[in-house]
Amino acid sequence: MKILFTRSIQSPLLELIPKEYEVVMWKEENRVMPRKELLKEVADADAIFTNLTDQLDAEFFEHAKKLKIVSTMAVGFDNIDVQEATKRGIPVGHTPDVLSEAVAELAFTLMFACARRVFESMQFIKENKWESWGPYLFAGQKISGAKLGIIGMGRIGRILAKQAKALNMEVVYTNRRPNPQTEAELNVEYRELEVLLKESDYVVMLAPASNETYHMMGYEQFALMKPTSIFVNVSRGTTVDEEALHQILVEKKIFAAGLDVFEVEPIHPNHPLLSLENVIAVPHIGSATKETRDKMVEIAVINILNGLKGNRLLHTVNEEVYQ
Ligand code: GLV
Repeated sequence: MKILFTRSIQSPLLELIPKEYEVVMWKEENRVMPRKELLKEVADADAIFTNLTDQLDAEFFEHAKKLKIVSTMAVGFDNIDVQEATKRGIPVGHTPDVLSEAVAELAFTLMFACARRVFESMQFIKENKWESWGPYLFAGQKISGAKLGIIGMGRIGRILAKQAKALNMEVVYTNRRPNPQTEAELNVEYRELEVLLKESDYVVMLAPASNETYHMMGYEQFALMKPTSIFVNVSRGTTVDEEALHQILVEKKIFAAGLDVFEVEPIHPNHPLLSLENVIAVPHIGSATKETRDKMVEIAVINILNGLKGNRLLHTVNEEVYQ
């Protein structure tokens, strides 16, 4: 059996891999395995440990003649043609739940940093502009008691809502359909997107990337938000029309945006959004705590080992392969 790791992974869990298996690993830590190399190496691989930067499209699956398991170290799987995998009877494993708290915490990090203008303030100090305490110097927005609007109420949304309740926030959400059980459990209310945008002081995007969610936040939607409101995206960049977001921020029709994800990653350093004072951008680090990443690696490795033994994965995206 050959397991292809498209990223350099150091973990004691690799000891669990039977000695007779061959492990091929891309060694450059923060660089994507080149496409040519990926297609070559997957040709005789039985399993692949992948991540959101690999495109597992129809062409990939055509090359992957022996592939039995796809295991992605991520909750999102929009980079994988799941239909193609299912057609070939390949289960696709992913790593939900273990990252929900970390991603929700990053959403809060961005909310707080935007609300209290943390980076602008630090820049101000570094540029030697701080002369004295000022009555309204860097006056921002408050979070406690404010209204949070969550777009996409899944696993991460539910954790975010719980955390928000600790700050006495009112929480509304929008989703493909309302979820009365979540509403009862978490004391949150469903809203149509337009209503949520008008009402909320903080809007957090958590909807996954799909044809349905592509550019779901465009100029028209951003224009419904309040000039004091803050938009945060910790989901996927394609849910947002970045040109529209840029324009809305320039027009000061919303207060600020905190972005972990971008339409094209890595975002170009000269991208217009990055020149704005009211944008805080981080490089897709939603789940990046050491503890969380360890757990993601653990699940992704176990998914492969289970799958190669003919057992069910811990979390399968396409359960229908088992029918
Ligand atoms: C990260 O974006 C993930 O999908 O886990």
